[in-house]
Amino acid sequence: MDIEEIRNDFPQLSQGFIYFDSGSTSLKPRSVINKMKEYYDTSSVSIGRGLHSPSTIVTNAYEKAHEKVRAFFSANGDIIFTKNCTEAINIVAHGLTWNKGDKIVTTYLEHNSNLLPWLNLISSGVKVELIKCRADGTINLNELKGAIDENTRLVAIAHTSNVLGSIVPVEDITKMAKEKNALVLIDGAQAAPHLKVDLKAIGCDFYAASGHKMLGPSGTGVLFIRDCTVEKLKPMIIGGGSATDLTLDKITYTTGYSIFEAGTPNIAGGIGLGAAVDYLTDIGMDQIRKHELELIGYLIDKLRTFDKVKIYGPDDMNIRSGVVSFTIKGVPAHRIAIILDDLGKIAIRSGFHCAFLLNRYILKEPDGTARVSLYLYNTLQEVDILIDILKDIVKNA
Ligand SMILES: Cc1ncc(COP(=O)(O)O)c(C=O)c1O
Repeated sequence: MDIEEIRNDFPQLSQGFIYFDSGSTSLKPRSVINKMKEYYDTSSVSIGRGLHSPSTIVTNAYEKAHEKVRAFFSANGDIIFTKNCTEAINIVAHGLTWNKGDKIVTTYLEHNSNLLPWLNLISSGVKVELIKCRADGTINLNELKGAIDENTRLVAIAHTSNVLGSIVPVEDITKMAKEKNALVLIDGAQAAPHLKVDLKAIGCDFYAASGHKMLGPSGTGVLFIRDCTVEKLKPMIIGGGSATDLTLDKITYTTGYSIFEAGTPNIAGGIGLGAAVDYLTDIGMDQIRKHELELIGYLIDKLRTFDKVKIYGPDDMNIRSGVVSFTIKGVPAHRIAIILDDLGKIAIRSGFHCAFLLNRYILKEPDGTARVSLYLYNTLQEVDILIDILKDIVKNA
């Protein structure tokens, strides 16, 4: 993996800032930008409607993008394009038919996007059981197993924590859920950009991810549905493109992904997302993981030399992804972020990271944490610049 060559693919990096906030959204390579531009420059027509040749070309390109994403995830089901990961999770929350007494098992580790859609169902008589995670982001699997009973309709769990970077053993958890015939939804927003995700091997029913965090355009997300039928999952919105026939007595719904993508979709975004997974596949997810492990290991070793710094997340690098959260005694997290931006043009994220329960009840950090999230275009030299500024912050704390 030639890091300089990779960096040259990302036009924004030429502005001279250090981007350590890929957990929020990733930068976009030129190939993705060009694909979108090509659509707008040459063929910005609709899909699946017209019989004219531009429409056929674009329809094929949009369908091909689904196929690329399907292959990227080794998916044994349909891939739906959404506007983000949050929408993908909401499609499942709104689409399943819930009965009073149904149970959803989830955890304190979750991002609000994998909590609020479930907590919102409590008013319909659904029980939500929240399993505590440990402070390093690991989960007691026996406790989780004990919570999954015959009333459990769904287990909803993050593949990787957006605060602690811990990688959750989703394959084992899916097996546990399947023993009780429960459905499994995995929030892969922070895993899909960094790890090789094999949905066939995991065996889950739903997998949600953010296209925009995995080099895709903003306004893109992904939902994998293993059994994509309207009987099992009602589309949240229906309209143009949802039906193959309509009489006054009967609606005949389309099959496959289009039933969940009613109306004119984000065509340029979808095609751009296809280019993003091409880019990731060309580099190789194993290579990306290797590079990130080197960066994280280096960063953590340096952070450990500061006595006022507390590092969050698991010690075991095998279950750590590209996120490193930390606090500095006496310096609020937002202050760290502002100083890094002012002095080093370094972009990090600070605060609660939309994981309120984790922060409030597990980490108990009143100001949240400072979060450095790394990706394939980051370098050891950038980490050194960050550490130099942190040294001063720690000294003056
Ligand atoms: C773990 C996790 N889940 C869900 C989301 C929501 O993703 P999106 O902004 O694509 O809706 C995020 C975003 O940061 C996340 O980190």
